[in-house]
Amino acid sequence: MVPHPLLRHRYDRLEDKSVFVNGLFDAGAEHYDPVVNWGFLCQGNSYRKWALQRHGLEPGMRLLDVACGTGLVAVAAAEILGSADAISCVDPSEGMLALARRKLEAHFIQAGAEALPVADASFDFLSVGYALRHFGSLEAAFREFRRVLKPGGKVLLLEATKPENPVGAAMFRFYFGGLYPFLTRLFTRSDHAERMMQYFWETMDACVRPETILEELRKAGFEKVERTRLAGIFSEYSAE
Ligand SMILES: C[S@@+](CC[C@H](N)C(=O)[O-])C[C@H]1O[C@@H](n2cnc3c(N)ncnc32)[C@H](O)[C@@H]1O
Repeated sequence: MVPHPLLRHRYDRLEDKSVFVNGLFDAGAEHYDPVVNWGFLCQGNSYRKWALQRHGLEPGMRLLDVACGTGLVAVAAAEILGSADAISCVDPSEGMLALARRKLEAHFIQAGAEALPVADASFDFLSVGYALRHFGSLEAAFREFRRVLKPGGKVLLLEATKPENPVGAAMFRFYFGGLYPFLTRLFTRSDHAERMMQYFWETMDACVRPETILEELRKAGFEKVERTRLAGIFSEYSAE
């Protein structure tokens, strides 16, 4: 199952998606933190920490942060765990990883979610922040998540989801589809940053609905599969 249909104005074949997405994040990496910081009203970092705590991340656990990007989830996790010693971070974009490496002394691996170069049953908790739309296959990624988690291990996927109701969906489109990329361009003067935020919207708009994500987690063998919704647009997919 793909997280969204092909976006043909970006790439014609699924095989080309990862090249496009890596190029996008490599080129936009330096703008990522400031843009997501003001775009989410400076609440993104405290929200990430709050979500990890509510879903059971505790000192003593080993965490794998998949699609770590510039390390925003991992930094929040290190505050909970007391250090980054037990954190491994995975991302295919060298540009994003380079920025994450400057922030914390975790273990960094350049790879995609669909083939994680880590041992079976080696983590207590696995997190993904705002990235499952970029995976080539939900099935392959979720199968890997289950493989690398210890029995009873937890997975937490954070996402922004287009609301179902027409008024909410229109507001969501106005902000993420128009205003946010426009302001990104205005503040950064960067084509790369603007394109990154346009693509952010395009993938949210095209993303499979939450029921499909929950179903794919169940199919991969996860239990206690749930979606917590916040403020109408934030989805927290959790499972064991
Ligand atoms: C929007 S950023 C999210 C970064 C971070 N998790 C956060 O919460 O801010 C999406 C990240 O997903 C990464 N990514 C893209 N394709 C991926 C894949 N197939 N597997 C894992 N990560 C991927 C990108 O390189 C990028 O760093």
